[in-house]
Amino acid sequence: MSNPSPESGNPEEAALGADEAQPERRGARNLGSTGLRSRSWLGDGGKNGFIARHHFRQAGFSGRQFDGRPVIGIANTWSELTPCNMHLRGLAEAVRRGIQQSGGFALEFPVLSLGEPFMRPSTMLYRNMMAMELEELCRANPLDAVVVLTGCDKTTPAALMALASVDIPSIILTGGPMLNGRFRGRTVGSGTDIWKMTEALRAGEVTQEEFTEFESCLNRSPGHCMTMGTASTMASLTEALGMQLPGGAALPAVDSRRMVLAEDTGARAVELATEGLLPSQIMTREAIENALVVNAACGGSTNAILHLLAIAGRLGVPLDLDDIDSVSRQIPLLVDLMPSGRFLMEEFSDAGGVPALLAELGELLHRDAITITGRTLGENIAGARNDRPEVIRHLDDPVQAAGSGTAVLHGNLAPGGAVLKVSAADPNLLTHTGPALVFDTLEEYHAVMGDPDLDVTADTVLIVRGCGPKGYPGMPEVGNLPLPQKLLDQGVRDLVRISDARMSGTAFGTCVLHVAPESAAGGPLAFVQTGDTIVLDVPNRRLDMLVDDAELDRRRAGWTTPQPPSGRGWARLYTDHVTQADRGADLDFLVGSSGSEPARAPF
Ligand code: FES
Repeated sequence: MSNPSPESGNPEEAALGADEAQPERRGARNLGSTGLRSRSWLGDGGKNGFIARHHFRQAGFSGRQFDGRPVIGIANTWSELTPCNMHLRGLAEAVRRGIQQSGGFALEFPVLSLGEPFMRPSTMLYRNMMAMELEELCRANPLDAVVVLTGCDKTTPAALMALASVDIPSIILTGGPMLNGRFRGRTVGSGTDIWKMTEALRAGEVTQEEFTEFESCLNRSPGHCMTMGTASTMASLTEALGMQLPGGAALPAVDSRRMVLAEDTGARAVELATEGLLPSQIMTREAIENALVVNAACGGSTNAILHLLAIAGRLGVPLDLDDIDSVSRQIPLLVDLMPSGRFLMEEFSDAGGVPALLAELGELLHRDAITITGRTLGENIAGARNDRPEVIRHLDDPVQAAGSGTAVLHGNLAPGGAVLKVSAADPNLLTHTGPALVFDTLEEYHAVMGDPDLDVTADTVLIVRGCGPKGYPGMPEVGNLPLPQKLLDQGVRDLVRISDARMSGTAFGTCVLHVAPESAAGGPLAFVQTGDTIVLDVPNRRLDMLVDDAELDRRRAGWTTPQPPSGRGWARLYTDHVTQADRGADLDFLVGSSGSEPARAPF
């Protein structure tokens, strides 16, 4: 990355007098040590203060650590069950250095880690659990500010949701993307090339041996997926929202500059603790609109839509699917990254990362939005430079014209809305009429997709339901349904697919996703039948089935609400309370904010 190191007010920079040249910080209240939240635990001269202090002494900390200096939590999503976050322990040590150098007391603690490749039935089932856990840990403990280390897909939105609800001074450091994959002399990307190679294997275009060799060439380092999948998208949006230091999204996970950034992040957290700048002051409607603009310009994941709706719900910021569609219609695709384009996150970083993209977007952004630096977005990117215009294109030379991002569809098949990523779809299928081939479950479709006699043509609209937040449960990333073997053998490589599921941000295809209400909630998707004519009209944002209302009412009358997939535990709590996709699939009782004050304190 060619742009300057993110400003942070770190001691080294302050010693050089760099801070004096920086614009004034906004939102700073300077609480001083007596206004620190942790003093309510540690500053008490009686029994309660004794209990808190002597247990820190039990952990081997001297009294110097809690003499009134800010207590900074390092919330770590490290786990051996989350390979994308395996390097976060090292990053946490660099954050700790930054905290200690700046006079803070650093305390690392674990948070539920969400490993995309392993968790079943879906990591999305657990996003709200991580958000709830982090929110409660921040509120319940003597912390003045928190650094949250995230990486793999759901960890970043869960952190943003938690911080929005607890509203404690906080900063996110995403773990950075893994290095580019290399296979037989060519560059290969996370997810995107897995889907391509899997279809090529099924079509007999690659051998099993090649497929196995590819398996060990794709992921060459720790870090999250290096395509513009959900993790890279959410890292970029975290920066656009103003919740991580400039340049934090794109630097590769193993780049030494990320360790420097981690140290800067720790140092900045100490300042945040005394300044009192809160997430709710940063993640405003303007900041969320900035994130929507960046999502469209970088060809971001459709998952980001769900996450931004949930984050906005926590903040009480009005946001709906039509807001998202309207931004998407105005913003061209500038970032030429897979799955919509050619490059990967290493090249994005070389080009200048998010600061360079923000600079290219210019007046399309709210440049006066306050960020975690205490300065505006416009001030943060004043020196940003785009060093690879073939990777981050100029506004007058986009990869794709405005409207190529996420389209929001409405119609009698999706009255609450559905989404489709235009840049990842076959342009010839964006306006399509065809007969439905409907499956009630994913398992039913998988049982027959290899059948050479399956009644399917290139015009078929493949529909799988029962994959929504309640129905699966947890809305898995299966919306890019594998093509029927019969069509693959005919050379067909895309098909209109409709579901109430999500799709990996690394995936592609003409896939209508997030249909709301989902079938398990009694949405019209539950009543479509094989043979019904489906009309997809993306230019006019329509998704309809040519079935009249009387017939739909007849079908609805014969429908009964399915039993929840699980009778107990988290899955039951989730299915009883999860909202539909058009509201971000949050739990209804987690929407909004509770603030950072614990409900009760001991006497
Ligand atoms: Fe972790 Fe893709 S599997 S980010």
